[in-house]
Amino acid sequence: MKTKLTRIALAVTALLGTAVIQAADTEPIQPIKPPANVNLGMVELGKKLYFDPRLSKSGFISCNSCHNLSMGGTDNIPTSIGDKWQQGPINAPTVLNSSLNVAQFWDGRAADLKEQAGGPIANPGEMAFTHTLAIDVLQSIPGYVREFKQVFGTDKIDIDQVTTAIAEFEKTLVTPNSRFDQWLLGKKDALTKDELEGYKLFKDSGCVACHNGEGVGGNSFQKMGIVEPYKGNTSDGRAAVTGNDADRFNYKVPTLRNVEMTYPYFHDGAYWTLTEAVDVMGRLQLGKKFTKEENARIVAFLKTLTGEQPKFLLPILPPSSDKTPRPTPFGK
Ligand code: HEC
Ligand code: HEC
Repeated sequence: MKTKLTRIALAVTALLGTAVIQAADTEPIQPIKPPANVNLGMVELGKKLYFDPRLSKSGFISCNSCHNLSMGGTDNIPTSIGDKWQQGPINAPTVLNSSLNVAQFWDGRAADLKEQAGGPIANPGEMAFTHTLAIDVLQSIPGYVREFKQVFGTDKIDIDQVTTAIAEFEKTLVTPNSRFDQWLLGKKDALTKDELEGYKLFKDSGCVACHNGEGVGGNSFQKMGIVEPYKGNTSDGRAAVTGNDADRFNYKVPTLRNVEMTYPYFHDGAYWTLTEAVDVMGRLQLGKKFTKEENARIVAFLKTLTGEQPKFLLPILPPSSDKTPRPTPFGK
């Protein structure tokens, strides 16, 4: 009896499973999968490092300062504020779902999250530290020495372990179960009529040529300003990495997941509202001027891409010891 029921249950699951996959497969956007295969001990350690401002020269700036997980993984300002209140050159993209990206940074200069994570600690305009000093700080904190030993099995902390742990934590920062994903997975009443019409416009106008896949972006580099040039603060974009002039003004297509939370928009953070961003995209990328109503529907659709935000207890960081090098918040 029990086995028979189990078999029926399995058959039903298998059937539903295929139906779900087929429904999602015919759309250019796929639902986000919850994080799988993460090392939980490493995630906990990486979470602490992500929130630890002692990895910065000032002792004041952590990853979370610019990628605030209470605010969609961004800082919600046009360009970031770094060490000594320096104004950064470019808008901070969200860390949410960044594990789905083809590469990291607007110009894709880091291949993956691990490579990316070493950058900001040593960037003079961001955390302004050195990897050696960051390791000295961690090695002086007994709580960290214990935890690194548990996770990596050695008494000696190095930058490779630090970036590995941060990247592992970042893998958990995905946002499944948005209303749009529920719709993709078969819940037909998850979207309103306006939102569905917005999605249809998004597809039929050609937005999906660049914003597609699980991340609704993040998987290719494209020119900003195909039909009309972008008038904002332009940098070289992808050409800075490839040295190829054809890649000028090419940027990694940003993910549109949680886009309602990640304002202001574009690499220079010049536009604050989705209404403006959709208008700019329509005109510059597709040569299309949307009516007010069309624009509002696309915006309504974009807002259905907000998923479940990562939930966890705020990590409590191990205290410094008498030997911990002191922060230098005001220069020196
Ligand atoms: C002072 C602000 C600041 C701090 C601190 C900071 N970042 Fe960033 N982060 C940025 C900016 C700005 C960019 C975009 C830079 C670029 O593309 O050239 C970025 C890019 C990224 C990206 C790439 C996302 C994408 O879609 O390309 C990831 C991932 C990331 N940061 C993670 C981290 C981690 C992990 C830390 C801590 C070790 C950190 N950041 C610290 C501002 C900051
Ligand atoms: C040819 C490729 C392409 C097409 C087509 C395209 N986009 Fe984009 N989209 C991009 C790129 C590249 C960026 C980043 C540009 C930058 O920051 O300079 C972007 C940025 C955005 C942003 C800002 C996201 C952020 O976090 O800054 C929104 C919103 C957006 N697109 C929506 C749309 C909509 C809606 C359409 C259809 C009307 C569309 N896009 C069509 C490539 C494209």
